[in-house]
Amino acid sequence: MRIVFGISGGIAAYKIPQVIRRLVQRGHEVEVVMTQAATQIVSPFLLQTLSKKPVWVKDFDVRRPLAHIELGDWCDVMVVAPATANTVAKFAGGLADNLLTATFLACDKRKVIFPAMNVKMYENPLTRRNIEILRSVGCEVYEPEVGELACGYKGRGRLPDEEVILGVVDRDPLKPLEGLRVVVTTGATIEPVDPVRYLSNFSSGKMGIALAKRLYALGAEVLLVAGKTDMPLPAYIPSQQVRTTEDMLLTLQQVMARYDVLLMAAAPADFRVSRLSEEKIKRSGTLSLDLVANPDILATLHQNYPTKRLIGFSLEMKGGEAYAKEKMVKKGLDAIVLNMVSPDFHPMGSDENEVTIYTASGEEWRLARLPKHLVAEKVIAYLFLGERE
Ligand SMILES: Cc1cc2nc3c(=O)[nH]c(=O)nc-3n(C[C@H](O)[C@H](O)[C@H](O)COP(=O)(O)O)c2cc1C
Repeated sequence: MRIVFGISGGIAAYKIPQVIRRLVQRGHEVEVVMTQAATQIVSPFLLQTLSKKPVWVKDFDVRRPLAHIELGDWCDVMVVAPATANTVAKFAGGLADNLLTATFLACDKRKVIFPAMNVKMYENPLTRRNIEILRSVGCEVYEPEVGELACGYKGRGRLPDEEVILGVVDRDPLKPLEGLRVVVTTGATIEPVDPVRYLSNFSSGKMGIALAKRLYALGAEVLLVAGKTDMPLPAYIPSQQVRTTEDMLLTLQQVMARYDVLLMAAAPADFRVSRLSEEKIKRSGTLSLDLVANPDILATLHQNYPTKRLIGFSLEMKGGEAYAKEKMVKKGLDAIVLNMVSPDFHPMGSDENEVTIYTASGEEWRLARLPKHLVAEKVIAYLFLGERE
């Protein structure tokens, strides 16, 4: 993808070299445009080295007098991070008094803006108004995060992490899955035993998060319904956090009416205690817990939403293939993705996975062991884009 990356003079500009480096590593072409204030904070020389191209710092360059038009025509997406209150105001007012603002005005491509500033500057009604103006003309403006700010204040104003910027920018401009609405579940549900203990499983949430990121990158509208995960949820994807299997079912029953597909990559706990202890259970020689089975999420949703596309994930040991296929039929699934636990490999918590996809129409596709983000790419391409390679 061809990216014009605008940097204005916010203190968070120090985070941008790493973003540029990773964009270039991912095969994108990046043209960096900096305001004069930005050059005070981060070195154009460093950015030039990382982007492997001269950096645009001069508003008037005799060698390329029409750079602002050329850059806007050349790119697929224009990103501005950090966007200062000043630059956001100029964008909203249609000013074109430097190369960055002129390029912004001359560019009719996708525009992605990451404001970052002191919390009072951000919450000032003038800044809020400017952001709303930009949204109203189709710019994607991402909320800064809440946290400790470089100015010493705490509050909303922090530039989102590199992962968030990369996730948003990396979105395929062709958006092949635009219009598709998908719920992805991820992580483990937990079942309390007493006020301080719970039953759960080793699911890390990595696979579901990778699937949600990939669907988002291809333009789908995604909702993540997440139990306990070992890693943060991507801030650019809407999410709902749940605790128990019953919570997950209830949430899905409420939201599925608005979505077309459910990708059930979570590992819901199959059992809960029949009676929750209100007191912390004291240590004793032995302890017996009376467990009852939790509701079957996919089977219940199939009954409630018989026309929705449901895709299951199944973690099995020996004989798993037959069991996964049986599960697909019994629960009315469109497809099932089988992960196997073997003596030398456990997919839960691992950064890799090895899966086989079975579809209701009788197809079967076995994938080699790959990092989870690549498994996500292949599974999504197979299930939603009909790719069979
Ligand atoms: C050390 C320092 C840090 C600054 N950090 C920010 C910031 O994070 N966000 C912001 O909106 N302005 C910040 N400013 C103010 C801008 O640099 C100032 O408004 C400047 O005119 C912005 O110019 P530009 O939008 O053309 O880059 C900072 C100023 C200084 C001196």
